[in-house]
Amino acid sequence: MQHIFEHGTNGRTLLLLHGTGGTERDLIGLAKEIDADANILSVRGNVLENGMPRFFRRVAEGIFDMEDLLFRTKELDDFVQQASVDYQFDRNQVIAIGYSNGANIAGSLLFHHENALRAAILHHPMVPNRDAKIPNLANVDVWIGAGTNDFMCPPQESEQLEQMLQAHGAKVETAWFNQGHQLAMPEVQASKAWYTGIF
Ligand code: MLT
Repeated sequence: MQHIFEHGTNGRTLLLLHGTGGTERDLIGLAKEIDADANILSVRGNVLENGMPRFFRRVAEGIFDMEDLLFRTKELDDFVQQASVDYQFDRNQVIAIGYSNGANIAGSLLFHHENALRAAILHHPMVPNRDAKIPNLANVDVWIGAGTNDFMCPPQESEQLEQMLQAHGAKVETAWFNQGHQLAMPEVQASKAWYTGIF
């Protein structure tokens, strides 16, 4: 997969997953804000929708192509595994930071692949798959940033995602912002405060 890797010094790796129409460059600045000493593995989604990169196909807005979602999630999991060998980082210290479609594929990694992630920061995520057999997430920490007026992912999506993750043992914190689907600075600062409290 097309990606950027930058070596850090503290043994953690931030896996950056952009939103629809983004690229692997989008979240680099944000990652430096969260943890300037971590490795960065920033990936470009392999699917194109009208020329816009995404991480999996959708049938319509908010309706995912489940077969493609499962295929692309495994593809990403395999890619991170191979990258950990190639770049020599600890596969057990990978923390995803995803926005929108990127948050949804990060959620899908958690839902479908045990030990894929140590933690995740999910900006404006949805429930990736309501029928997933979710693995044990007892050692996983998740932060969800949600907008009270987010037309793309209504509040109940974030609430249900939180409940589903918690039901499988994850420690989840959800922060609400009086805004829509955009990712604004107060949300980044709140995710940083959470991250700093854990790592
Ligand atoms: C998705 O397709 O993952 C969500 O609708 C969010 C987005 O449009 O990226």
